[in-house]
Amino acid sequence: MAAAAMPPLGDLSGRRIVVTGANSGIGFETARALAAHGAEVVMACRSTSRAQAAAARLRGSPGAVVVRQLDLADLSSIRRFAEEAAGDGALSGVVANAAVMACPLSFTADGLELQMGTNHFGHALLVSLLLPLLDRAGRVVIVSSIAARGGRLDARMRAVDLTAPSPYRAQTVYSNSKQANLLFAKELQRRLRAAGSGTAVIAVHPGVSATELFPRQMRDNHMGFLVPVLKPVMGLILQSAAAGALPSLRALSDPALGGGEFLGPRRLGQTRGRPELLGPYRQGADDEAAARLFELTEEVLGTGLLAP
Ligand SMILES: NC(=O)c1ccc[n+]([C@@H]2O[C@H](COP(=O)([O-])OP(=O)(O)OC[C@H]3O[C@@H](n4cnc5c(N)ncnc54)[C@H](OP(=O)(O)O)[C@@H]3O)[C@@H](O)[C@H]2O)c1
Repeated sequence: MAAAAMPPLGDLSGRRIVVTGANSGIGFETARALAAHGAEVVMACRSTSRAQAAAARLRGSPGAVVVRQLDLADLSSIRRFAEEAAGDGALSGVVANAAVMACPLSFTADGLELQMGTNHFGHALLVSLLLPLLDRAGRVVIVSSIAARGGRLDARMRAVDLTAPSPYRAQTVYSNSKQANLLFAKELQRRLRAAGSGTAVIAVHPGVSATELFPRQMRDNHMGFLVPVLKPVMGLILQSAAAGALPSLRALSDPALGGGEFLGPRRLGQTRGRPELLGPYRQGADDEAAARLFELTEEVLGTGLLAP
């Protein structure tokens, strides 16, 4: 695996790219860099007011910034978003970035466990609905995590293991959801190729970056009083959110990538550094598990994920 330097983003004018969770952390820095290079960024966010506030910070960028409401924990919101996006015209890319991490047991509007519902099922439906909008060089970027290495899904998984895992162990379910991101990316790429599509699906991990992810986890678990201490410490020891956005940005723009790759930092246990081509994690590499996850995802969502 070559540790090639990241190619420059270049001029992205004329390219429209959807970024989920673009109001915060790595998603915001992804949107910022894309807009700075002239792309039109569709900020797909669950809170319109938080998204508008984030968009205001990008005012003056060469690219356009559009805010659209998207709640990945509500399948009807995802369908509405996709309908609106279809009215905007062709897309060059989709970055499946948003996530929740290790929250107490709760469920989406459709009764799916929240972490798997948001991080995997919501993005699977979103990507499926946006595939027909992608232009010929279109790219799907799936943001996973080094936490995927703790995932326990295998080819024997059942739908209930995804929709209502029991016993509920919050960190394991987060790991499973990030493993599901990798398995989904793998099988989606295989099926798209088999169907003759040129769409490239690229999985990334952002290392460990100072964002709202860890403070949110603390607040969700009644440890919000530690956040004022946590944030400055994070700023000292973790890489920046902007560094965490580099794998997504390379996945969108590196002409050497053809789909099926896995990118992320390698240094210090893959926690920081420039985005490099990495070997797949064992947890994301099993063909049978990937096919099983894809089938179960279609079953749970009640729809085929690849347009005929
Ligand atoms: N930070 C790290 O060290 C790290 C490490 C490994 C992987 N990652 C991955 O990197 C990605 C970005 O995370 P981050 O660190 O930037 O975290 P973050 O700052 O907490 O941002 C998460 C984003 O996801 C959005 N989101 C959550 N639930 C949503 C829903 N139901 N519908 C739409 N959007 C929703 C949040 O919206 P609100 O602001 O409205 O809540 C927020 O915009 C995630 O996929 C995460 O798993 C991060």
